[in-house]
Amino acid sequence: MKLSYHGHSVVRVETNNHTILIDPFISGNEACDLDADTVKTDVILLTHGHNDHVGDTVEIAKRNDALVVAPNELANYLEAQGLNTHPMHIGGKHDFDFGRVKLTQAFHGSAFTEEDGTIVYTGMPAGILLTVDGRTVYHVGDTGLFSDLRLIGEMNEIDVAFVPIGDNFTMGPEDALIAADWIDAKVVVPVHFNTFPVIEQDAEDFAKKVSTGQGRAMRIGEAMEL
Ligand code: NI
Ligand code: MN
Repeated sequence: MKLSYHGHSVVRVETNNHTILIDPFISGNEACDLDADTVKTDVILLTHGHNDHVGDTVEIAKRNDALVVAPNELANYLEAQGLNTHPMHIGGKHDFDFGRVKLTQAFHGSAFTEEDGTIVYTGMPAGILLTVDGRTVYHVGDTGLFSDLRLIGEMNEIDVAFVPIGDNFTMGPEDALIAADWIDAKVVVPVHFNTFPVIEQDAEDFAKKVSTGQGRAMRIGEAMEL
């Protein structure tokens, strides 16, 4: 599979047969290299309902007739907007034609703010374990540090982990280094930084300090083969 990073928490997974977008926050992020009007995908995976993660999901899913996999309450909210959804919840896994998805816990919030300012609560936030062709990618989602990251690391052979480092809304770099130790992935990629001034971080510095597995600060648009 091919993994690419597109700023904030946007990750694209390309397999032999499918394209999967995680948390496609595109038009709201000037640094993102994707175009919400043209990007192609078969599947969208969402960690939680915050606008910087749901992003352009409705438009992209409608145009591509894509399946949206999300925590139950968020999936229901998007289903009501005419999307094709598959609701899941924390601890549950499901085998799709594109691969296996398991949702993990995340300590954060989950609500979508509509254009008129109405706030819709969308249940619990999650992390995503995605297994395709024998490789497992862990998109940690937005979360603070929690000790069951160690359990998740013990229970899963994780090839690549996408870990938030921005601080303020999620783990900062110091806690993310502890998370990286516990997750014990082969490669650790920092995400959720520099999008807004309050989450500015030095991703290269973080990547250098990762001691369990290889830290790798991916540039926006950069890809790696697994
Ligand atoms: Ni969030
Ligand atoms: Mn966020």
